[in-house]
Amino acid sequence: MQAYRGSLLRFDPAGRPVYDEDGLLVVGPDADGRQRVQDAGAYAAVAARHPQVPVTHWPGRIIAPGFVDMHIHYPQTDIIGAPADGLLPWLENYTFPAETRFADKAHSAEVAEFFLDELMRNGVTTSLTFATSHPESVDAFFEAAQRRRLRMITGKVLQDRHSPDGVRDEAEQSLIDSEALIRKWHNVDRLGYAITPRFAPTSTDAQLRGAGELAAKYPDTWIHSHVAENKDEVRWARELFPHARSYLDVYAGFGLMRERAVYAHCIHFDDDDRRLMRETGTATAVSPTSNLFLGSGFFDFEGADRVGYHYGLASDVGGGTSFSPFTTMMAAYYAGREGQTKPGISIAPSQLWWRHTAGAARALGLESVIGNLQPGCEADFVVINPKATPLLSRKTSLAANLEELLFALIVLGDDRLIERTVISQAG
Ligand code: GUN
Ligand code: ZN
Repeated sequence: MQAYRGSLLRFDPAGRPVYDEDGLLVVGPDADGRQRVQDAGAYAAVAARHPQVPVTHWPGRIIAPGFVDMHIHYPQTDIIGAPADGLLPWLENYTFPAETRFADKAHSAEVAEFFLDELMRNGVTTSLTFATSHPESVDAFFEAAQRRRLRMITGKVLQDRHSPDGVRDEAEQSLIDSEALIRKWHNVDRLGYAITPRFAPTSTDAQLRGAGELAAKYPDTWIHSHVAENKDEVRWARELFPHARSYLDVYAGFGLMRERAVYAHCIHFDDDDRRLMRETGTATAVSPTSNLFLGSGFFDFEGADRVGYHYGLASDVGGGTSFSPFTTMMAAYYAGREGQTKPGISIAPSQLWWRHTAGAARALGLESVIGNLQPGCEADFVVINPKATPLLSRKTSLAANLEELLFALIVLGDDRLIERTVISQAG
């Protein structure tokens, strides 16, 4: 057992923040050998319950859950900031050419290592990431994540039409490859597999049907795709699938909506779509820096809350412009202003933070596993230095309450805030 003393941020089951100015986090192995939170709370009370446990003291630092990035593309690390007129030209001119290189396992492995370093530097301890259509890209990523003992989710991209040579796959083989990868990697250590149709326009009916069959056969895998991001994309999807009620409904028709199904963007939705999300237990990965960068539009936070379905925050690098959860939370705050009907601030700072930690974990079906520091959670956490820069030091020392403190970190923060990222080590 090991204990860590500092200010301690957690969340209660309702998503409200719990903050101990002088807190103690006690970590130790469970029956499965995995490091989990054994106890957490105010220093005096928790220390009295564990008199023998050695304590590491981080004065003036905040211990907080590792961030959870619900949607990112590790193979797009190098095309972050590629300018384009919108989603479809961006895919054609930058994304597909960059992804072609991931047929090469050595290239995949090099990018995977850089990407995981970057996540750690930014305090992100779990991500649901796209790979590419090449099985090598999946093996390389899982091998790198496994060596680091991380909880990570990825899968082979399915795209058997409207895609150039070099990334296009073929329906039957793509499904054989996906199933082989599920058997090889899903639930091995802390790794999880996501069945990953790129988006409906780049898959045939046969490929989408096969993906839905795999999703039914392996019900605790994830499903990961994009929907209703951009108006040209929505128009194209409606032309290709004229019988579906909406673009989202295409996925429902192929059995691709269920718990652990995660769709990035979900911008151009109506309330029937939102109800379909709620009724199927499907979640949205809200990606505000990507939506601003590609000019896609604004996620409707009020609509999502009114109907009541799961969503969390995501960077969507390389459509998104930053690996930093602070930048993503800031952009979500701005996006929440658009179309806002209720007076006041757009989204409370602690809510933004919850949507990128415990709330994102809940949306992924990993509630009480990651994204929080309550007893039983895996001990992936960050140590934040609120005095990391002169301006942060000045501003955070003026904070009168927790919301003001968290907002100062969100507005001014970046990777310099993350002093260390601690990963639950198995064994
Ligand atoms: N839709 C289909 N593929 C992609 C992608 O790689 N990024 C984004 N943002 N949207 C997509
Ligand atoms: Zn994406």
